[in-house]
Amino acid sequence: MIKLAFLIRGTALLLCLLIFQAASTSHGQASGSGACTSSERDALLSFKASLLDPAGRLSSWQGEDCCQWKGVHCSNRTGHLIKLNLRNIDMDRSLSLSGGEMSSSLATLQHLRYLDLSWNDFNGTSIPVFLSSLKNLSDANLDDVIPDWFWMTFSQASTLQASGNKLCGSLPTNLQHMSAEYIHLGSNKLTGQVPQLPIHISQLDLSSNSLSGPLPSELNAPALEDLMLANNQFTGTIPSSICQLTSLLRLDLSGNHLEGDIMQCWKESDANSTNLFGWNMFSLALNNNNLTGQFPKFLARSSQLMFLDLSYNRLFGGLPEWLPEKIPQLRILRVRSNMFSGHIPKSLTSLHRLHYLDIAHNNISGSIPWSLSNLKAMKAVVSQDTNYNFYEDSIQIIMKDQKRDYTFAIYKLLVILDLSSNRLAGQIPEEITLLIGLTNLNLSNNQLTGAIPNQIGDLRQLDSLDLSFNGFSGAIPSSLSALSYLSHLNLSYNNLSGVIPSGQQLQALDNQRYIYIGNPGLCGDPVGRNCSTHDAEQSGLEDIDHMPSVYLAMSIGFVVGLWTVFCTMLMKRTWREAFFQFVDMMYDMVYVQVAVRWAHMMEKTQDGAP
Ligand SMILES: *[C@@H]1O[C@H](CO)[C@@H](O)[C@H](O)[C@H]1NC(C)=O
Ligand SMILES: *[C@@H]1O[C@H](CO)[C@@H](O)[C@H](O)[C@H]1NC(C)=O
Ligand SMILES: *[C@@H]1O[C@H](CO)[C@@H](O)[C@H](O)[C@H]1NC(C)=O
Ligand SMILES: *[C@@H]1O[C@H](CO)[C@@H](O)[C@H](O)[C@H]1NC(C)=O
Ligand SMILES: *[C@@H]1O[C@H](CO)[C@@H](O)[C@H](O)[C@H]1NC(C)=O
Ligand SMILES: *[C@@H]1O[C@H](CO)[C@@H](O)[C@H](O)[C@H]1NC(C)=O
Ligand SMILES: *[C@@H]1O[C@H](CO)[C@@H](O)[C@H](O)[C@H]1NC(C)=O
Ligand SMILES: *[C@@H]1O[C@H](CO)[C@@H](O)[C@H](O)[C@H]1NC(C)=O
Ligand SMILES: *[C@@H]1O[C@H](CO)[C@@H](O)[C@H](O)[C@H]1NC(C)=O
Ligand SMILES: *[C@@H]1O[C@H](CO)[C@@H](O)[C@H](O)[C@H]1NC(C)=O
Repeated sequence: MIKLAFLIRGTALLLCLLIFQAASTSHGQASGSGACTSSERDALLSFKASLLDPAGRLSSWQGEDCCQWKGVHCSNRTGHLIKLNLRNIDMDRSLSLSGGEMSSSLATLQHLRYLDLSWNDFNGTSIPVFLSSLKNLSDANLDDVIPDWFWMTFSQASTLQASGNKLCGSLPTNLQHMSAEYIHLGSNKLTGQVPQLPIHISQLDLSSNSLSGPLPSELNAPALEDLMLANNQFTGTIPSSICQLTSLLRLDLSGNHLEGDIMQCWKESDANSTNLFGWNMFSLALNNNNLTGQFPKFLARSSQLMFLDLSYNRLFGGLPEWLPEKIPQLRILRVRSNMFSGHIPKSLTSLHRLHYLDIAHNNISGSIPWSLSNLKAMKAVVSQDTNYNFYEDSIQIIMKDQKRDYTFAIYKLLVILDLSSNRLAGQIPEEITLLIGLTNLNLSNNQLTGAIPNQIGDLRQLDSLDLSFNGFSGAIPSSLSALSYLSHLNLSYNNLSGVIPSGQQLQALDNQRYIYIGNPGLCGDPVGRNCSTHDAEQSGLEDIDHMPSVYLAMSIGFVVGLWTVFCTMLMKRTWREAFFQFVDMMYDMVYVQVAVRWAHMMEKTQDGAP
C-alpha cells in the first residue's frame, strides 16, 4: 500500500525527475546540523538568477544557511544538499526560465539525490541540458528527442518520472537493462513501440503518448503492479503477455485501437486454469477500444475489483448474474456503448458499494428491477472523504491540455444511474426514490411507461434528471420543485399532462421550452399554454400534500382492510379469493370517491385563487 501511495503521488507530475541512487549515500563525517557549504549556496543563487519567479516563491532564498531555504533539504548527517523540491502546487505560481536555458550551476550539487521541478513552466528541451551537466555528459544532442544519455543517466535510478513534458522520440530498445522499478513518462510525445521492460519494474505509466504497433508479445515483468498504456495508438489484440502479469493491481489499456476477443489473452494463457491473472486487481479499464466477445469471465476471480470500465467496445451477450458474488467490492461499473442484451440482472442491485452504474447505449430489455433499493451506496450522500482515496493526488491540478488518469477520483464523488438508450419497458419502480444519494439519473430513450414517482423530490442531490423519450404519462409531480441542486432537467417527448409545477429552481433552468417539449398535454408558462380548470384538476389529483386528512383516512382504511384479509386468510383458505375481490372493489370505490372529492376541492381552491 505504501508503494501504491507513492505511485499515485507521482502520476500527476507535470515534470518530475526523481533520482534515487541507493548506493550513493555518502558516509562522510557530519559537518554540523545543516549549515550549507558556500559552493552549494552559490549554485542555488546562480540557479535562482536564471529563473523568472513572478510569485516570489524563492523569496526565502537569501542569507547564509541555504539549508533553511524553502524547498531545500540538507542531509543532517553530512550537511550536503540532497534534495531540491520546487514542485509547483498552484498554477499561478509557476517558475519559468528567464533565458533560453536553465543554469547549469546545479550540476555542481554532486550530492543531490532528489529533484522535483514538476508543474513549472520550463521548456521541455531545457531539462535534459541541465541533467546532462549534472552527470557531466556534455555530448547531449538536443533536438526535442530524448537522447541516449538520458536513458544512461537514469540506468541506475530506481524511479524515473518525467510525466507531462514534451519528451519525444522512442523508448530505447535496451530499456530492459535499466534497473528502474517505477517509470512514469505519461503525457509526453513518445512514439514507436513498447520495448521489453526492466525485470524488476513495478509501475509503468506511458499513458497519453503516441505509441503504436501491437502490445509486446513478451513483457517478462513478473512484478508489474501498474500498467498504464491508455490513450495511445496500440493496435492488434490483447496479447497473452498481459494475462501473464499476475501481480497486476491496475491495468489501463483504454483509448487505443485494440480489437479481437476480450478473452483471447486469457484463453491463450489459461490452458489449464492455473493462471491467476486479475486475482489482485482493483482497477481495470479497457474502454474505448474495438474489443468484441462476452463479458469477460476471468473477472470472476477479481474479488478486489472496485473499478471496471468496458465502455465503448463491441461486447455482446448478457450482463452476468455473478457480479455481486464474485466482485463484491465493485463501486464503479461502466459498460456504456456496447451491444449487451438481456435483462438487468436482479443480482446487480445487491452490489452494496456500487454508486456508479452506466449501462447506457446497449440493447438491454425488460424492466428496471424493484430491488434497486438494495444499492446501499446510492442511498447515502457521498461525502468528500469516502474511504478510497488512492488517486486523490492525481487531480490536484488538471491542465487543460492534459488527458490523464483522473477518472477514478472524479467518478468517486458521483452517484450515477444511467440506463438510457436501451429497450427498458414497464414502470419506474417507486424504490428508485430511496436512492437519495443520486446526483445523475438518466432513463432517457427507453420504453418506460406509467407515472413519474410522486416522491421523486426525495432525490435531493440530483444535479441532472433526464426522462426524455419514453412513454411516461400523468402529471409531473410537484415534488420536483424541491430539487434545489438540479441544473439539468429533460422531460421531453413523453405523454405527460397537466400543470407544469412551479418552483424557483425549476424556473431558473435553461431552455424552459425544451425541457417539456413533445408533451402536448402539458400546460403552463414554459410551454406557452394557459391551464384550463380541467388541466388543474388533473394535476391536483397527484398532489396529496395539501390534503393530510383524506390521506390519513385512506391509510387507516387500508390498514384495517389489510388486517381483515390477513386474519381471514389465516383462518380459512376458501375465503381468500372472495376477500381479495371484496378488497379490490372497496379499494376502487374509495379511490373513486377520493378522486372525485379531490377534484371538487381543487376546483374550489382554484376558483378562490386570484
Ligand atoms: C534528520 O533530521 C530530521 C528532522 O530534523 C529527523 O527527523 C531525522 O531523523 C534526522 N535524520 C538523521 C539520519 O539523523
Ligand atoms: C522553447 O523551445 C522551443 C523549441 O524547442 C523554442 O522555439 C522556444 O523559443 C523555447 N521557449 C523558451 C521560453 O525558451
Ligand atoms: C566535465 O568533464 C569535463 C571533461 O570531460 C571536465 O573538464 C569538466 O570539469 C567536468 N565538469 C564537471 C561539472 O564535473
Ligand atoms: C473500430 O473498428 C472500426 C472498423 O472496423 C473503425 O472504423 C473504428 O475506427 C475502430 N475504432 C477504434 C476506436 O479503433
Ligand atoms: C499447464 O500446467 C503444467 C503444469 O501444471 C505446465 O507444465 C504447463 O506448461 C501448463 N500449460 C500451459 C499452457 O500453461
Ligand atoms: C437486441 O436484442 C434483441 C434480442 O433481445 C435482438 O433480437 C436484436 O437484434 C438486438 N438488437 C441489436 C441492435 O443488437
Ligand atoms: C441521457 O441519455 C441520453 C441518451 O443516452 C443522452 O442523449 C442525454 O444527453 C443524456 N442526458 C444527460 C443529461 O446526460
Ligand atoms: C397518453 O396518456 C393518456 C392518459 O393520460 C392515455 O389515455 C393515452 O393513451 C396516452 N397516449 C399514449 C400514446 O400513450
Ligand atoms: C431534451 O432532449 C431533447 C431530445 O434530445 C432535446 O431536443 C432537448 O433540447 C433537450 N432539452 C434540454 C433542456 O436539454
Ligand atoms: C393566458 O391567460 C392570461 C389571462 O388569463 C392572458 O393574459 C394570456 O394572454 C393567456 N396566454 C395565452 C398564451 O393564452
